[in-house]
Amino acid sequence: MSDRYAVIGNPIGHTKSPLIHGLFAQECGQDMEYVAIEGPLEPSEAFANTVHDFIAPDGRGMNVTAPFKLHAFDMADERSERATLAGAVNAMKFENGRIIAENFDGVGLLRDIEVNLHQPMAGKRVLILGAGGAVRGALLPFIGARPAQLVVANRHLDKAQALIEQVDAGDSLIARGYPDLESMGAFDLVVNATSASLSGELPPVPPSVFSADGTAYELAYGKGLTPFLQLAKNAGIRNIADGVGMLVEQAAEAFAWWRGVRPQTRAVIDRLTVPLE
Ligand code: ATR
Repeated sequence: MSDRYAVIGNPIGHTKSPLIHGLFAQECGQDMEYVAIEGPLEPSEAFANTVHDFIAPDGRGMNVTAPFKLHAFDMADERSERATLAGAVNAMKFENGRIIAENFDGVGLLRDIEVNLHQPMAGKRVLILGAGGAVRGALLPFIGARPAQLVVANRHLDKAQALIEQVDAGDSLIARGYPDLESMGAFDLVVNATSASLSGELPPVPPSVFSADGTAYELAYGKGLTPFLQLAKNAGIRNIADGVGMLVEQAAEAFAWWRGVRPQTRAVIDRLTVPLE
């Protein structure tokens, strides 16, 4: 029987993960099956029971999406440092009766920016909007990329402040409220990691944060020109991207972790890309 993998979420109908991992498996010649599972929302222990039912007899790993990233964190036997800082898990490996937990969202995002979009972060000024789970996942990988300055901006400044205090990154990592950004000049890279775009909203970011030769990155994907990307475009930025590359790159990280072979991502990204205009 093939090794079995799955993505678990609720709702899960929209997921692209079975398609992505199916293409990776084909390309890398891996004998595996990857399915989507709609996880139970209640009672609270039902999620863990579903995972255990999948593990026995031949479940090898799972991706985890909303709303279960914290449930997966709680039930893991071992967690990576980035999963611990994120407080959330997006991939699990089942090995020798243990559940090992990872979070590849941040590394996938970093890889998309640096490798696919050719925008290395070292020495750059980077602004990330939000202070929720998505930013918690991105923080360690971003710091590891050595930007000259990394500013975390959030509506509730205390939340951004509490987040950066968990990380030892010196003076280059700072938290700010949106009004403070007016006087901070332009950034080389602005990443919208708030959930604002999911409801068609715009974080209150001043257009002065964008520089014409910089990059604007929207974590949401498949939503076309979101209000954030529209603002960036109006400010003269040509280099704009949504999170489709991050989606595929985090999947490639999980695949490599599970199977020991790293798939190519370009063709899969091209296949899933929805034009921004
Ligand atoms: P996720 O896991 O997707 O990051 P989350 O943990 O609920 O979701 O965090 C959502 C983030 O988006 C928060 O930083 C939130 O800001 P606050 O902490 O100040 O509430 C941010 N957010 C949501 N809607 C927003 C909006 N319309 N404008 C600006 N920020 C918004």
